[in-house]
Amino acid sequence: MKKNILSLKNPIWFMRQAGRHLPEYLKIRKKFKSFLDFCFNYESIIESTLQPIKRYDLDCAIIFSDILVVPYILNQKIEFIEGKGPILSPINLTSDLNLKVNIDKKRKLENTYNSIVQIRKKLHKNKALIGFCGGPWTVACYMVDGSSKTNFVKARELVNKDKTYLSFLLDIIINVSVNHLEKQYLSGCDTLMIFESWAGLVPKNSQDEILYNPTKKIICKLREKNITAPIICFPKGINKEIISYNREVKPDVLSVDHNIDLQWLIKNIEEETTLQGNINPNTLLQGGNPLKKEILKLKNIVKERNHIFNLGHGILPKTPIENVVKAIELIRA
Ligand code: CP3
Repeated sequence: MKKNILSLKNPIWFMRQAGRHLPEYLKIRKKFKSFLDFCFNYESIIESTLQPIKRYDLDCAIIFSDILVVPYILNQKIEFIEGKGPILSPINLTSDLNLKVNIDKKRKLENTYNSIVQIRKKLHKNKALIGFCGGPWTVACYMVDGSSKTNFVKARELVNKDKTYLSFLLDIIINVSVNHLEKQYLSGCDTLMIFESWAGLVPKNSQDEILYNPTKKIICKLREKNITAPIICFPKGINKEIISYNREVKPDVLSVDHNIDLQWLIKNIEEETTLQGNINPNTLLQGGNPLKKEILKLKNIVKERNHIFNLGHGILPKTPIENVVKAIELIRA
């Protein structure tokens, strides 16, 4: 079997490990005005993916990209504005029913795939390389509302009022995402992750249709293509429904946000699921004794369980390097 995240012993990595908390990232990021230009640049991808590995000797690298490359290649206008996050031109719900992949924009992803080949060559063979995409619902949220400023009220309205349209949109996202994950895998990613960052917004009675089935479809289509890489799913904000999510979606690794009580989760979840995460990014930001306490507590809770060390969400940009170093030291001790 190919090496992947599941063949490593208690691996450590951080969501958003590449990015603004690293001075070396800020240095190369400064050379580009647009985040997307940076994100599609062959050298930038290689360098920013490897920066956290060089600095911290982490066990996994995650490809430097963004979940919003999917709406981008579906020809949606998108900009990343400093301090505001991504802004998309919201899709027109009545006339955008034939959202199609734009070939010229899709070609930009060739740089991502080619950089993966190079990163795999540069990365030590005992380290995992993670490719990713957004969960279909989360990507739909950005596509429908245009930004998180609205708290995704339009996307949530679709759940209640126009499920046919929403399902249609989800299917388009699913197909593009499967293709994108397949290309990342074929280029050298050995582990795949699906970020469903806004899972918590879906009402309980629609979770099957809007969350579980679309993600199951992605996994099923990948398996039909004989892609055997372990799949990590991150249903952020889903609270106690994480149990039914896991039962339905059956990811190889379940990434757990910091609002979930890990002790409770372990008592209630299938034993064969490997768990990932759960440290509060604010505690990592804070450092000192609270960080030490939280890490020691986590180590104690997961000591008889397959667990991948990570946070409950991405590293916050102001997180001091020395806190990350300390955290790794405490985990490895
Ligand atoms: O290190 C890594 O984890 C790999 C790279 C990565 C980025 N985005 C780079 C990025 C990954 C895995 C993502 C995922 C992503 N992107 C998610 C899912 C995970 C999550 O955080 O919930 C979401 C929702 C997005 C959408 C997105 N991209 C937002 C909301 C923002 C702005 C807010 C922010 O965190 O900056 C981005 C921009 C972005 N994506 C940056 C980076 C490093 C910062 C932009 C910059 O450097 O100018």
